[in-house]
Amino acid sequence: MDADEKHDHSNCSIFIRSNVVMNFLFKNIKSLAGIRSEGTELLRGNELKELPSIEDAWLHVSAGKIAAFGSMSKADFTSLRGNNEVVDCTNRIMLPCFCDSHTHLVFADWRQEEFVHKIQGLSYEEIAARGGGILNSARKLNATSEENLLQQALQRIETIKNQGTGAVEIKSGYGLSYDGELKMLRVIKKLKALSPIPVKASFLGAHAIPAEYKDRRNEYIKMLIDELMPTIAADNLADYCDVFCDKGFFSPEETDQILQAGWKHGLKPKIHANQLAISGGVQAGIRNNAISVDHLESVGDEEIEALKNSTTIPTLLPSAAFFLRMQYPPARKMIEANLPVTLATDFNPGSSPSGRMSFVISLACIQMKMTPEEAINAATLNGAHAMEWSDVMGSITVGKQANLILTKPINSISNIPYSFGSDVIEKVFIGSR
Ligand code: NIG
Ligand code: FE
Repeated sequence: MDADEKHDHSNCSIFIRSNVVMNFLFKNIKSLAGIRSEGTELLRGNELKELPSIEDAWLHVSAGKIAAFGSMSKADFTSLRGNNEVVDCTNRIMLPCFCDSHTHLVFADWRQEEFVHKIQGLSYEEIAARGGGILNSARKLNATSEENLLQQALQRIETIKNQGTGAVEIKSGYGLSYDGELKMLRVIKKLKALSPIPVKASFLGAHAIPAEYKDRRNEYIKMLIDELMPTIAADNLADYCDVFCDKGFFSPEETDQILQAGWKHGLKPKIHANQLAISGGVQAGIRNNAISVDHLESVGDEEIEALKNSTTIPTLLPSAAFFLRMQYPPARKMIEANLPVTLATDFNPGSSPSGRMSFVISLACIQMKMTPEEAINAATLNGAHAMEWSDVMGSITVGKQANLILTKPINSISNIPYSFGSDVIEKVFIGSR
């Protein structure tokens, strides 16, 4: 097939771009990991412990989807149709691609100067109070062309795809003006069409109060609600509404106001909560039926209790805690409370200048004491669920998108977090490519 092939999935479109669409037959896979029956869409508590696998396996990809798989000892390939490129996977492990449900990967420039300030002793909040941080990125973004932002973001997506990410959520929030936010969201919309991996978009106009609205925060919030949201909805520029609900940023009451307006425009909430303080963000997310509450470096028993009685997923971003030298979210406590934990990178120039999911998995194991199986489940199927895509990706299931990681020769799945400084991923297959 020469033309682009478009697959529709509920509210998304996945484009597979290629000159020739291939079918693949992967043979002699040392271990095929992350196998789930159809309908398994979110793993909580003890369910995270198991990463169901077949040892010495095969897998067939047809038209970009997982068509069949099984054990080599019982394999019969005589009925397989079409042109199949055979890939010998001896000594290699295959697993579903990571689903990174929280990033800010559209940005104009890195912020390495703040990195040095942090080393010299300034806190994240002190840097923000001096007009650095998010406001620094907003200044740069407003002065950068849409095309430049698009090209930079495409390069970042190419990098994370090669590191094993097969789907990604991207936020606005470095525009912080009517024009700037729309510019960012248009870039993300273009990424949906051009990116090799599927993309979801979140509107994060409530990321920080811009300097010119410093003493008029209500007016800024009004602009987000009355001017930006209707345009975003009319032009279909976002799937979700995000708010940085935290000390020094947006209060729980302001968050309620923004999220309720978002719902009216068809934008479901997915929010930043409890990164800097026990801020009421988790509860604000839950009472507004957020899909996820993300960060959670500062949570106590009350937050965990509230999450237990909700459908809101806690998404942990340990590379942000690592980079800002903050406490890690209490992942073990959450898993023991039977919660469904998700892992994501938070890829952004200020608090996590890396979109490498395998490093997030290493931190989850080393710093949050998740087992490799728990961390991989949290980074695949649960990540897909936090983007409402667990029906189409995140596990080895017949009919799902064949977004697959093939490792280098390794002994066990534990090598992924264990070998944190080296790349154990040999190839990434996205659909038919
Ligand atoms: O998730 N916490 C809020 N937003 C980002 C950081 C953005 C930045 O510093 O540029 C985060 O960590
Ligand atoms: Fe973030």
